[in-house]
Amino acid sequence: MANFIPEETIRAIENAADIIEVVSESVVLKKTGKNFVGLCPFHSEKTPSFTVNPDKQIFHCFGCGVGGNIFNFLMKQDGMSFPDAALLLARRYGVDIPMPQMSSIQKSRISEKESLYALNRRVMEFYQHMLTKSSAGDKARQYLNRRGMTGPIIESFKLGYAPGRWDSLVNFFAKNKVSHALVQKSGLVVTKENSNRTWDRFRDRIIFPIFNSSMQVIGFGGRVMDDSLPKYLNSPETPIYSKSRSLYGLHAARRPARINKNIYIAEGYFDVLALHQHQIANSVATLGTSMTPEHVRILKGIIGKQGQVILVYDSDAAGIKAAQRSIELFKKEYVNARIMVLPAGHDPDSYLLEFGPGRFAELAEHARGIIPFLTDSAVKKHGLSVEGKIRIIADLIGTLAAIEDDVERSLYIKDLAERIGVDEVAIIEKIKKISGAGKLKVQSPGASVKTGLAGNNTGDGKGIRLEKQIITMLLQFPEIVPEMIKRNAIDLFEDKNLRSIGKMIIINDTIAGDGKGVSEPGKNNSGRIADILASINDPEIRSTVISLIIEEVDWDKNGCKKLLSQFENRYKRRDNTLLQEIRTAEKNNDHALLLQLLKQKQIQARR
Ligand code: GTP
Ligand code: MN
Repeated sequence: MANFIPEETIRAIENAADIIEVVSESVVLKKTGKNFVGLCPFHSEKTPSFTVNPDKQIFHCFGCGVGGNIFNFLMKQDGMSFPDAALLLARRYGVDIPMPQMSSIQKSRISEKESLYALNRRVMEFYQHMLTKSSAGDKARQYLNRRGMTGPIIESFKLGYAPGRWDSLVNFFAKNKVSHALVQKSGLVVTKENSNRTWDRFRDRIIFPIFNSSMQVIGFGGRVMDDSLPKYLNSPETPIYSKSRSLYGLHAARRPARINKNIYIAEGYFDVLALHQHQIANSVATLGTSMTPEHVRILKGIIGKQGQVILVYDSDAAGIKAAQRSIELFKKEYVNARIMVLPAGHDPDSYLLEFGPGRFAELAEHARGIIPFLTDSAVKKHGLSVEGKIRIIADLIGTLAAIEDDVERSLYIKDLAERIGVDEVAIIEKIKKISGAGKLKVQSPGASVKTGLAGNNTGDGKGIRLEKQIITMLLQFPEIVPEMIKRNAIDLFEDKNLRSIGKMIIINDTIAGDGKGVSEPGKNNSGRIADILASINDPEIRSTVISLIIEEVDWDKNGCKKLLSQFENRYKRRDNTLLQEIRTAEKNNDHALLLQLLKQKQIQARR
């Protein structure tokens, strides 16, 4: 611990600071009773289990177990040390920190980041001065104006100009006696290996300072004003700059994004400037990298559970690739994402400049979900010939198989089937193959079978699990249907949905076949399943059926009979227990309980 910050000062900071206020900056919190809850910024989750208690000034996530006080929150979130967190809060809430006891090593460790922030700010001001006040900045100002950037946006994003000399910053640092070590750490200069020669990293470039959400300057980007290469140059990773968790424009986008509950993600600096210039201020860009889980979590913290991310990538092959890559990321973090397609050759900057924000808004209205977007792209790429359809399915099958939510997946399968005119069951069969080869391998019946896809099998009682297995069996092993009818086991089902699915299967087979189920070996089960699916309208039930079809199970008659006996025995046991309880209640003259138990018995008898 930082024993050089006196205990009473730490208490004073704790008293002055407000954990709700600090956490709210990165997590959407909702008041529920005494606590506030939100989506945990430290792990993926769909329903909020991250809880903040304002009375005790602590947080705790019931999902991943992290918790602590306001210092711990900042340390965990921003990777700060304890003293850094204390200093930041002290400054923010106006608490003085007496520092006489600090050792010089402690001082230097704390001050390194602080010093880098301070240095970056001075450099930002230097570049700003060069752009707005020096004659060297004339052509840079003209360049920006030519690209439609006016004074207010230049001012609010603190744009600058790095002069063409090799030593503008080098001299500036020397004049201001900035230590060599700090200059090296800042990444603002480049030193040739095995030599002492040092020169400016950014020369003759438009400068884009990169801020964190506390408006500290963490790094810079720079663009040339002609065709020379590299077009863009960014700060390297430094103790205060990590591109995998930084987003350009976030400082200005945070508030409007929170209010609108959505945020645009573009690819470049100028796209962000153009969007903000046109009052579309809920916009950020990644900094020359693809999206990372950290990015997605930061965004989720701003837009909240109901929020939406709108990707404005180029519609070229690279944009499609980026969309494909990000889909898993967004899915994993349960973030709802859509993709906006601009006409070929346009990015948000060029589009806004040519067509204005009204047309942009219209296009945004038509932003597609990621999967429909990928479907469209595949259709465009391959066409709807037979070969084309095969390729389209091949392109999409992995993405579809990766969707964890049963309802969602079955809806997308249905959409795709309709969109390209392919049998739904054929697509399901394909997914089944992929899934069977991967994580969805299921044991043969009788053993403890995992039914339903991930997400659907949590919290199922043993009884429901057996019932699901039986339905899976009925779907995949039609030979057992007559046996099932004979035993009349469906009526004993506890689960209402599974019961009605079972009945539907039996009715379908009875009508279609000879009353004994589809029993000729070799007869195509796909056609039968298609018939069954066609008779189900309820999307929830449909998705359950599909998830059960997808499971990979090897059935044989003996295994099936064992499964049925297991189920019947369980039912008998349950029945016996109930009878026993009724007798005991009678003996004890417990009328209330007796009434309740009899009611239960009645319900069971009705099945
Ligand atoms: P403008 O031509 O100024 O409109 O830029 P743009 O953003 O349209 O360019 P592009 O689509 O080529 O690049 C998108 C983003 O990728 C840029 O904003 C940069 O962040 C990054 N980028 C592009 N070119 C380079 C490069 O040469 N080096 C690095 N490090 N990043 C680049
Ligand atoms: Mn551009």
